[in-house]
Amino acid sequence: MNKKHKEFHYDTVLDPTNLCGRKAELKGLQVLIERKQRVVLYAPRRYGKSSLVHYAATKYLAEHKRSLVINADFMDVSSLASLADRLRLATARAISERMAVRGFLESVMGYLKNLSLVVDVDPISGTPSVSLKGTSGDFGRSIAPVQLVQECLDAIKRMHKDRPVLLIMDEFQDIHFVKEAEAILRAALQKMPGLPMLMLGSKRALLTEMFARSGSPFFGFGDEMTLGPIPVDTWLPYFNERLSPYGRRIHKQALAALCELVCEVPNSVCEFGFALCHDLQVPAEIDETAMKSCLQRLIQSKEQSLRYQMVHFSLTERSVIAEIARRRYVQQLGAKDFLTAVKPVLSAVQKIVARLVKSGFLEWEAGKGYRLSDPLVGVFLSAYPL
Ligand SMILES: Nc1ncnc2c1ncn2[C@@H]1O[C@H](COP(=O)(O)OP(=O)(O)OP(=O)(O)O)[C@@H](O)[C@H]1O
Ligand SMILES: [Mg+2]
Repeated sequence: MNKKHKEFHYDTVLDPTNLCGRKAELKGLQVLIERKQRVVLYAPRRYGKSSLVHYAATKYLAEHKRSLVINADFMDVSSLASLADRLRLATARAISERMAVRGFLESVMGYLKNLSLVVDVDPISGTPSVSLKGTSGDFGRSIAPVQLVQECLDAIKRMHKDRPVLLIMDEFQDIHFVKEAEAILRAALQKMPGLPMLMLGSKRALLTEMFARSGSPFFGFGDEMTLGPIPVDTWLPYFNERLSPYGRRIHKQALAALCELVCEVPNSVCEFGFALCHDLQVPAEIDETAMKSCLQRLIQSKEQSLRYQMVHFSLTERSVIAEIARRRYVQQLGAKDFLTAVKPVLSAVQKIVARLVKSGFLEWEAGKGYRLSDPLVGVFLSAYPL
């Protein structure tokens, strides 16, 4: 088998060569970046936000000499101090990515001011890495967290005066839970005109609260962009290119049925694609029946971990989850047949669903309704009722 053949990857940010479709989205994103705009990129979990932005960032670095891409992840950020840590880590990573470029380090030292740059070399591999330390040495713990955040943002601003900078803030909505973070960030970011920014998020309700509610610090701060599902016609060649080294081919109808079963979430589509390659019982021609048998074996192989996820829920929560899984999408929580099936009254169901959406177990998709965030859990629960 050719060693260079392409594989399916899941649960990871993809390198650009493994991205299926998204050409128009990439182009659109590049145009906005070139216009130096601020973009709020929204899509449900595991839809490919980070992978798409990683692709755009790679292009940006290639097309802009001396540029820096600062990619900060705010997932579960819990305080201003940890927000500063994330910004600092992202800045250090951006710098280390460019370290190979001659003269770069000397030129950036001037921007860092109160932050000092520490270069470590891995004794075994010889690979250099950089980190930034704050005013008081050990990550500046003794100075006010707000000042730590400010120092990082000031450094980014100074860098941008001298070179093209792209600022990416992933899981941006999570700063909503850190007191004063929105106001502090907004005040600093609005003083960086001409610096393109991408703010990524998967929690629709929170993003709307932050960007669309007048009176909130980020009201009207960015242009919204969303990612939709990848069409079956785009998936088909991607699948067959990866299946062909295994002597297999999937029929379009089978692939369409699969996409529907996993609510079109690209991560689940790819996880299943991986199983189609490696499951020894899969035939050369994959029709709908062969696809469903393989899906069955995949969820059986994950049974222990899927069951474990459910032990944390109460009986009433489980009944709501199981019914949503069975229907795949539930648009109206108050629908009579749904309420009859789940037992608790509407107000209790609404509270349970709100809690499950907040914890990320359930997802709300506009026009479609509530569904399980991980569709494979949904497939499992509809096949094996608890
Ligand atoms: N365009 C695509 N082509 C192929 N696979 C994709 C694509 N987009 C997403 N995926 C699949 O989804 C997985 C997750 O991608 P990524 O981490 O970029 O999504 P995300 O929206 O940032 O997820 P999260 O909500 O967890 O942050 C990938 O590992 C891959 O399996
Ligand atoms: Mg992501």
